[in-house]
Amino acid sequence: MRAHLRLPRRSFLGLLFLFSLSTSALYFIYSAPGIVNEYLFMVQARGIQIRENVRSIGAQVLEQVVRGAYSNGTDYSYDFDISEPYPQTTTYLPEGFTYLPNQRCPERLPSMKGRVDVNMSEIALEEVERSLLEGDPSLGTGGHWKPKDCIPRWKVAILVPFRNRHEHLPILLRHLVPILQRQRIQFGFYVIEQAGNEPFNRAMLFNVGFKEAMKDLDWDCMVFHDVDHILENDRNYYGCKDMPRHFAVKLNKYYYMLPYDEFFGGVSGLTVEQFQKINGFPNAFWGWGGEDDDLWNRVKFAGYEVSRPPADLGRYMSIPHHHRGEAQFLGRYTLLRQSKERQGLDGLNNLRYSPQVSRRQLYTNITVTLSRDLAPVAEYRPETSDSHLPLSGSTS
Ligand SMILES: *[C@@H]1O[C@H](CO)[C@@H](O)[C@H](O)[C@H]1NC(C)=O
Ligand SMILES: *[C@@H]1O[C@H](CO)[C@@H](O)[C@H](O)[C@H]1NC(C)=O
Ligand SMILES: *[C@@H]1O[C@H](CO)[C@@H](O)[C@H](O)[C@H]1NC(C)=O
Repeated sequence: MRAHLRLPRRSFLGLLFLFSLSTSALYFIYSAPGIVNEYLFMVQARGIQIRENVRSIGAQVLEQVVRGAYSNGTDYSYDFDISEPYPQTTTYLPEGFTYLPNQRCPERLPSMKGRVDVNMSEIALEEVERSLLEGDPSLGTGGHWKPKDCIPRWKVAILVPFRNRHEHLPILLRHLVPILQRQRIQFGFYVIEQAGNEPFNRAMLFNVGFKEAMKDLDWDCMVFHDVDHILENDRNYYGCKDMPRHFAVKLNKYYYMLPYDEFFGGVSGLTVEQFQKINGFPNAFWGWGGEDDDLWNRVKFAGYEVSRPPADLGRYMSIPHHHRGEAQFLGRYTLLRQSKERQGLDGLNNLRYSPQVSRRQLYTNITVTLSRDLAPVAEYRPETSDSHLPLSGSTS
């Protein structure tokens, strides 16, 4: 045993050197400005993809050899996709299937056909309003809708944080509304727009949106949806059963790969109960980045497991110009280290705000001026990382 542990001094120094090199590389990646950060990520993603391809080509060759040994090879088709880790076991109801108005809506409906055509062309909001209303006149103000041919299984509020993306919103709505209708979910849309001059605070907007949405209806769950994320598959079901859920697993901008295992950005969802228990999002993340990682931590600390849609269901296209004009939040790594201590102190429970609420045809507009004094954080000691602070949701 001891012999194993003995390292020559030189290799020890070598290790030390490599270690310091990798930490400075990490430091560079984390503190580099957005454009460099994104570029490095792309390079990294590209490398992973090449490795994946090599692996899958290898597997295909192997598969062929194995098959060749047992058959004459003429019945073999190349349609299997090794990159999908989960077999597609779900069965969707057949085309002619009828369900009754007094029954709960099925989750795998014949109307959910799979891949949808994404159209990124800019379009006027009024035009989307008109055509969606034409498609289904029962679409209510605020983008509220529920199915008539069955009892909706879930009531889902879609929260969309917003600033300066007026050309994106109609593109999102034009795709997402018909998909949710095909999924027979009861839903409403809430666009939470940040006014004022502070950096964008996506997380605080979600907290505001949650509180305002709950005044409307006793929603079962919330879907936290970036305005520039367009769903590519209508079988990516927005119901609440498998929450906490991360929906946006594969994004075209990231070469359809998950950036990292704990990635929780883009589109995610929690039940109302879960969201209250984890004290919502943190309010302290001003600028781009980090708040979704903190949400992941909160979800984990509360003992939940995050689920993801299988295979290609979680594919999204992002409308170009992401993070346009939004500053990165460089303090996020410090805050992330204190996720646990802050969870009970910063979130739904310390947030005050005064919104301006108005209804449009397809969404409720919640406009709110955000500033740091709206969410004061009580004193806490960052060192006590082992202490378990009570979470507000479980005590009140
Ligand atoms: C190849 O195998 C299939 C069944 O696996 C059989 O129907 C076919 O006749 C075979 N072809 C030849 C050329 O042997
Ligand atoms: C995309 O949307 C635009 C604007 O509504 C429309 O003119 C165009 O025909 C659409 N393209 C496709 C391929 O459907
Ligand atoms: C929301 O309402 C405000 C006025 O209260 C308006 O300035 C803003 O453009 C609206 N935003 C959206 C996305 O409709």
